[in-house]
Amino acid sequence: MSGARGSRKKWWWIGGAIALIIIIAAAVGGTLAAKNSSSSKGSNTAGVVKTSGNDPSSFTKDPRLKQSFYSMCYTPFHAQYPACGAVQSNVTEDIQLLSQLTTRLRLYGADCGVSEMVLTAIEETKVNMTVWLALWVDDNAETWQRQLSTTQDVLKKHGVDHVEGLIVGNEYILNGGSVATLLEKITQVKTWVSGQNYAKTVPIATADAGSMITTELAQGVDVVMANVHAWFAGTLVSDAAGWTWDYTNNNDPGIAVAAATNKPDLWIAETGWPTNANDTASLTLQGAQAGTAELQTFLDTFVCQANANVTADATAVAAGTPVTVYNKYAFFEAFDETWKSIYGGVEPYWGLFDANKQLKNVTIPDCASV
Ligand SMILES: *[C@@H]1O[C@H](CO)[C@@H](O)[C@H](O)[C@H]1NC(C)=O
Ligand SMILES: *[C@@H]1O[C@H](CO)[C@@H](O)[C@H](O)[C@H]1NC(C)=O
Ligand SMILES: *[C@@H]1O[C@H](CO)[C@@H](O)[C@H](O)[C@H]1NC(C)=O
Ligand SMILES: *[C@@H]1O[C@H](CO)[C@@H](O)[C@H](O)[C@H]1NC(C)=O
Ligand SMILES: *[C@@H]1O[C@H](CO)[C@@H](O)[C@H](O)[C@H]1NC(C)=O
Repeated sequence: MSGARGSRKKWWWIGGAIALIIIIAAAVGGTLAAKNSSSSKGSNTAGVVKTSGNDPSSFTKDPRLKQSFYSMCYTPFHAQYPACGAVQSNVTEDIQLLSQLTTRLRLYGADCGVSEMVLTAIEETKVNMTVWLALWVDDNAETWQRQLSTTQDVLKKHGVDHVEGLIVGNEYILNGGSVATLLEKITQVKTWVSGQNYAKTVPIATADAGSMITTELAQGVDVVMANVHAWFAGTLVSDAAGWTWDYTNNNDPGIAVAAATNKPDLWIAETGWPTNANDTASLTLQGAQAGTAELQTFLDTFVCQANANVTADATAVAAGTPVTVYNKYAFFEAFDETWKSIYGGVEPYWGLFDANKQLKNVTIPDCASV
């Protein structure tokens, strides 16, 4: 097993049977959206965050949550094109929750208005947060046109104050895509962004399974985002934190980045632990066991140690020492994503929160990240 995400199936809609699911989901999503648009004004009494009056920046904090994650992977509910249905009031509530855990978010694509809604939510909640916007890449020309024009429109409207960077593609190479095609799209985005003359640097990244990262790919981006999952390598959860660091720095991602002359930064762009599976057999993968207690172990052994490593890196860089190891990470992920049940196994169960936005039975580590 090659490590990160080797066994993972395509995360996208394919085939006739799935088209049927889309139609059903679209109908349900449409109904929900219609229902919500009439009730989205005013306080969020149906939700999990108490907002005072009409001011989304005034909300009750949950004492169980700590701003301890360097960054977090997030996809709003009902945002799988074309089954769009995500609504601003719910995304705003997500941002209220997630701002209590992190100051940085990572998105996966631009469809269903997610970039627009997330930036609007950050603005109206006034939380301290930046976001990696994303452009989904597959082999459909319309998908790319939509990602590009949506992202350009959103950046023209909101500017880049709350934008940490742009991620072009997620696991496109793992899903059989060509490096040349991906690099072409990355160049297209880089060219457009550099033409905007923003007051700050907006780095361009690509995300893929750690085992797919090559020097050729690293050479094309400012930031390499490697999804590194000890779960898919079948490790014991007690070894998972150390395995993640070692794989990132001493295996494909670290080796590829070390050989790239443009010296890109390297992030662990997904790392986490699943709490459940669709059937008993899928609860284990070699030494890896899914469960809430196991997620707690991963939180306890990874988060604060990784934060300490990130801080040490920043201190070394500030003192003029060149970067030799990489520790920045995006925790995978915010919420259980029920739409991923089409992939079975552990896929829908990686959230810190369940699909009803309830915190799972875990204690969030308390160690502020830089
Ligand atoms: C929005 O949130 C409400 C209350 O939490 C939930 O009932 C509804 O399904 C959500 N709608 C969408 C489209 O996510
Ligand atoms: C906002 O978060 C950044 C890290 O993303 C941190 O450096 C900064 O100090 C924070 N600002 C405030 C006002 O808390
Ligand atoms: C932190 O860095 C050390 C090496 O300095 C490494 O052994 C350890 O596994 C890292 N921990 C995490 C959680 O990244
Ligand atoms: C659970 O998911 C796995 C992996 O996709 C699949 O092989 C298996 O048939 C699923 N089990 C059930 C009960 O649906
Ligand atoms: C939550 O986890 C703790 C162990 O950390 C356990 O003692 C408790 O019974 C669990 N609560 C629920 C509701 O599962």
